[in-house]
Amino acid sequence: MAITFFLRNKKAVLERCRDDYVTKMRLKYAPFYHAMEAQKGTTIRLDGREMIMLSSNDYLGLSFHPKVIEAGRAALLKWGTSTTGARPSNGSRLYHLELEKKLANFLGREACHVHSAGYLSCLSSVAGFANKGDVIFADKNIHSCLLDGIRLSTAAYERFSHNNPDDLREVAAAATPSAPKLMVVEGVYSMEGHIARLPELVEIAEEYGCFTVLDDAHGFGVLGHQGRGTADHFGMNDRIDVLCGSLSKSLASTGGFVAGSSEVIEYLRSNSKQTIFSAAISPAQAACAQASLEVMQTEPQHLERLWSNTKKYKAILKGLGLDTWESETPAVPIVLGSKERVYPFWKALLEKGVFSVMAIAPSVPIGKDLVRTAISAMHTDEQLEKIADAMAYAVRKL
Ligand SMILES: Cc1ncc(COP(=O)(O)O)c(C=O)c1O
Repeated sequence: MAITFFLRNKKAVLERCRDDYVTKMRLKYAPFYHAMEAQKGTTIRLDGREMIMLSSNDYLGLSFHPKVIEAGRAALLKWGTSTTGARPSNGSRLYHLELEKKLANFLGREACHVHSAGYLSCLSSVAGFANKGDVIFADKNIHSCLLDGIRLSTAAYERFSHNNPDDLREVAAAATPSAPKLMVVEGVYSMEGHIARLPELVEIAEEYGCFTVLDDAHGFGVLGHQGRGTADHFGMNDRIDVLCGSLSKSLASTGGFVAGSSEVIEYLRSNSKQTIFSAAISPAQAACAQASLEVMQTEPQHLERLWSNTKKYKAILKGLGLDTWESETPAVPIVLGSKERVYPFWKALLEKGVFSVMAIAPSVPIGKDLVRTAISAMHTDEQLEKIADAMAYAVRKL
């Protein structure tokens, strides 16, 4: 009798999986989880066809750079495939310290900690510092890892409208004056391509005594001197308490980092569960990120090419009358406004050999359903011409 009762509970979960509308739609229209059969730079093979990758975050195009590949290979041979352990116990190696020191120096910080995913770094940059009783002010369009960090912290959460300092001021003025406060924003919003209005936002945050957390996953490598990111772009590095980001975009690896003062990073190492109880970043991942960091400082041509490609690409989209949500960066959305318009547009691009990614509400605000594209320094002029033809074709299909 009891067993039958409990089986019913399990059935409820299995039925949830079986009947899920989102999963059914995803499997029916198959817009996600495409497994490419081959890749060389921005050229991929999918279903036996050669295509142009137009949605990767390999902004500087370093994922096929010979020095980066060689560094990964050498690290594998020297250190093996994995540390198979967490940093506080058996997982720390000298290569972690070396990468952390180089990242901290590059970002003008005293210290840095690397994790095996940007998601972990950014989540722990919030959950590691905020406590119950604190108040967190966060841009309403922040990435899901930051939102998860907020939820895990159990602090009170107040959203302000996207990139809107006036709204932040209103929200901050209404919060309990005595509560410890944090402000959480991104440097570059990856769906919108917007740069945070950091000078105004930080000024208000300072007025209210906020501890500031900046997720610069998409600003790192793209903005600032040699790609130091959004804080450097605005010359306000010393006014951000915690800078976090990903190694899986401009650094052409996998993993993430949290940078700040020594006391802040040491506190994270003692208190953040994601930092303490997750295996260390593997040798090849760390070595590739470190080699990319070196290339960023010695080969300025990649950053230059990224911006010249971005300029050409935006001119193409503008010429076709497409709405790019006023993107200011190489992350360029094409806003189409509804899933009924997004799907055929995305399909038409695919038909013409251009791979992009669609994002529909609720993962973007209602009416902002879009096709997300991103430019890389590796896109060739010939590829940009093909992209222009494919875009014109997709516009005709609308
Ligand atoms: C703003 C932002 N933060 C953090 C992450 C997580 O980084 P990762 O993919 O390295 O886990 C992403 C990834 O897309 C992101 O866009």
